[in-house]
Amino acid sequence: MKLNAGTYEIIIESGSIAKTGEYAASAVKPCRTLVVSDDNVYPLYGKTVEESLTGAGFDVAESYVFPHGEEQKNLTTFSAILEHMAAQHLTRTDVVFALGGGVTGDMTGFAAACYLRGIRFVQIPTSLLAMVDSSVGGKTAVDLSAGKNLVGAFHEPSLVICDPEVLSTLPADFFTDGMAEAIKMGMLGNRALFDGIRDKALTTAQIIEMCVTDKRDIVARDFRDNGERQKLNLGHTVGHALEVLSDYTIRHGHAVAAGMHVITRASAARGLCSEELLRALDAALVAAGLDPMLCSRHSVEDLHRGTLHDKKLRGNTISLVIPREIGVSELMKFTTDELTDIIRAGIEA
Ligand code: GLY
Repeated sequence: MKLNAGTYEIIIESGSIAKTGEYAASAVKPCRTLVVSDDNVYPLYGKTVEESLTGAGFDVAESYVFPHGEEQKNLTTFSAILEHMAAQHLTRTDVVFALGGGVTGDMTGFAAACYLRGIRFVQIPTSLLAMVDSSVGGKTAVDLSAGKNLVGAFHEPSLVICDPEVLSTLPADFFTDGMAEAIKMGMLGNRALFDGIRDKALTTAQIIEMCVTDKRDIVARDFRDNGERQKLNLGHTVGHALEVLSDYTIRHGHAVAAGMHVITRASAARGLCSEELLRALDAALVAAGLDPMLCSRHSVEDLHRGTLHDKKLRGNTISLVIPREIGVSELMKFTTDELTDIIRAGIEA
């Protein structure tokens, strides 16, 4: 499947990683290329991508491989990638390939956005989470010690290549991680996706296609994240707090799953959605192998403190995505004090 996302294409095809060169050649003119990846992914697919690029006439620079893990998504690794781009003599017309999960895609995309004030990059997501969410839409960033994705830029890729076959090498926990974002997309606007995940009736490729199509459409309507796109943050305010509190031992999708439970439970308690919606969400999360109750291990105060660096804060108010029913959600503003009550209602019985 080939999706047009305005200025770039998204390829979703089994075996497409071995055709990287061919697809890249249809998106950009022959140039120097650099693959950035981590030490989990590069040994699996790095050479395949580089040989494919060479075969299609690209000049391949020495790749940059960093240690895997969310804790690497920082300004130190980011700066090392930039230094490597310069050492490899990349110029304005050259292209960087982000080969890996969300950490690699976000950080490499941000380096591409900054190097020489912006060069092109291609996303080759190798985790389900990166395929269904982070590789599409041009959000790039690194973390600060205060919180997730606090420094970044909007910088769209020139091409996204999703090869569902590579997911077969993912540990189960990483696969489950991506399912949380897929359930989120279902909650936001796609009942067939939501029900299909809960009933285990969809193939992975179908899930990726449905998520990417929906995300592409939302981003096309609100690229700069001023309105509708903010709904993609469903469950993320509390989810990010949980990730930081756990020192990133709880992965993003698992934390978002728990965050969605908290906000839906609090919404049900306030009469903003039905108890039935909460039950349906929990059923879908459990069917995908996610634990909706992870936040209950933490105190309201700790979770609340973790939300205070959220990018959605404006002064002492924050916009939260309130689920109303499957396919209907609303951005509502709350004070940070009200947020404490929401977290309490979301974790306490
Ligand atoms: N991951 C949320 C967004 O792209 O807006």
